Amino acid sequence: MFVDEVWRTRADGAIPTARYTAAEFARLEHERLWSRVWQVAGREEQLPNPGDVLEYEIGLVSVLVVRDATGVLRAMRNSCRHRGSKIVVGQAKGAACLRCPYHGWRYALDGTLTDVVDRDDFGDALPSDLALGPVNVDTFGGFVFVNLDPHAEPLAQFLAPLRDLLAPYRLDAMRLRLARTAVLPANWKAVIDAFNEGYHVQSLHSQILPWTDDTSLAYEQFETHARYGRLPGARRELRPSPRLGLTDDEYEEGEILQGMIAGLGGAFLQDERAVVDQLLATGPPAGITLLAAFQAHRRELMTARGFDVSTFADDELTSAQDVLWFPNLVGPIYPGSAILFRVRPNGEDPHTAINDTWVLEWPDSRREARPPRVEYVEDWDAFGWDPVTRQDYDNLARVQAGMRSGANDMLFTNPRQESNVVHMHRVIDRYLFDA
Ligand code: FES
Ligand SMILES: [Fe+2]
Repeated sequence: MFVDEVWRTRADGAIPTARYTAAEFARLEHERLWSRVWQVAGREEQLPNPGDVLEYEIGLVSVLVVRDATGVLRAMRNSCRHRGSKIVVGQAKGAACLRCPYHGWRYALDGTLTDVVDRDDFGDALPSDLALGPVNVDTFGGFVFVNLDPHAEPLAQFLAPLRDLLAPYRLDAMRLRLARTAVLPANWKAVIDAFNEGYHVQSLHSQILPWTDDTSLAYEQFETHARYGRLPGARRELRPSPRLGLTDDEYEEGEILQGMIAGLGGAFLQDERAVVDQLLATGPPAGITLLAAFQAHRRELMTARGFDVSTFADDELTSAQDVLWFPNLVGPIYPGSAILFRVRPNGEDPHTAINDTWVLEWPDSRREARPPRVEYVEDWDAFGWDPVTRQDYDNLARVQAGMRSGANDMLFTNPRQESNVVHMHRVIDRYLFDA
């Protein structure tokens, strides 16, 4: 059998387990997917000034994103043309040039080699056009994307139709509030899968069902990317999951609203939690529901921050677009805030992944800009995650261990509620086997 018959996502949606566990499959992804796909290297706000440099690592590859003297973003391979050393590790600020720490060769901010120490010693042995290997770079919504493939399609084409879908959310105007990095105990795709469906909520996060209707989600696949979210109108009333079979007098709107705000934690702004407390204390104005009152307050808050939310319907103000930006960025985007997970393979190890959690929000222009909290979590298991995240990460350890045990060759997916999961695997297959 050819490898692609063993590894390909099946037409009926079954996924071969080896995709998550085999070192050879991970290698194939590096060779055929990561080397050719547009991927998020960071946020533009991480390199605000000329000479700012950000290192982006994918597998064994390291890329430097550089803002040059004229403010234009450049990207290049982070390996010196002399004897291969990395030039920048992590980041640099306000550099006049890129200087290799080993023997001091210098490169301009666009990657051209400008100075070789004791050049005369080399005579004419050096090629005249040495430069750091070029990498494509472009931006959308404040995200810096890179692509290692010189023949890559334009980013705008790759991102369609997300650009239109997300335009009203003004991601470019959002600012990082938190960037937290942790190595998680599962294959990168297992991590993405867990944020790409709502099917597991009723089991893994059953404590949130009293304030979450987990049944009113719609899934939609685009050519490359996907999204899921509330069905139109689903957040027009506050109700628990129908799975609980509660009658109207068995739940309290106020508790549901409180649960929603507390449970979505970082997705809401400090000011909004204050609004909820106040609403709960006074009750909604006569004739409108608690949710409608909250949505009206939310609209005022966003407008006061200088953002136009007139295109959003009331229920959209409290509903998320859960977008999979193929291949590895996923998470809920609300008007005004977003929690995004960027998940990368951890070197060549198929059993762990590097996860960056980015909390973004529209800043309040009337207040002084705050720098984001930047955290590196040394040991995911010892960290104080919020309860839902703890459940998700404990779950990932179990999933990877169960898959590694060799008990099952095939994983079966729910055709409706896990359709975005299967779609992501099919698009990966396009890169691995078809193009
Ligand atoms: S390896 Fe960079 S200057 Fe020698
Ligand atoms: Fe979850």
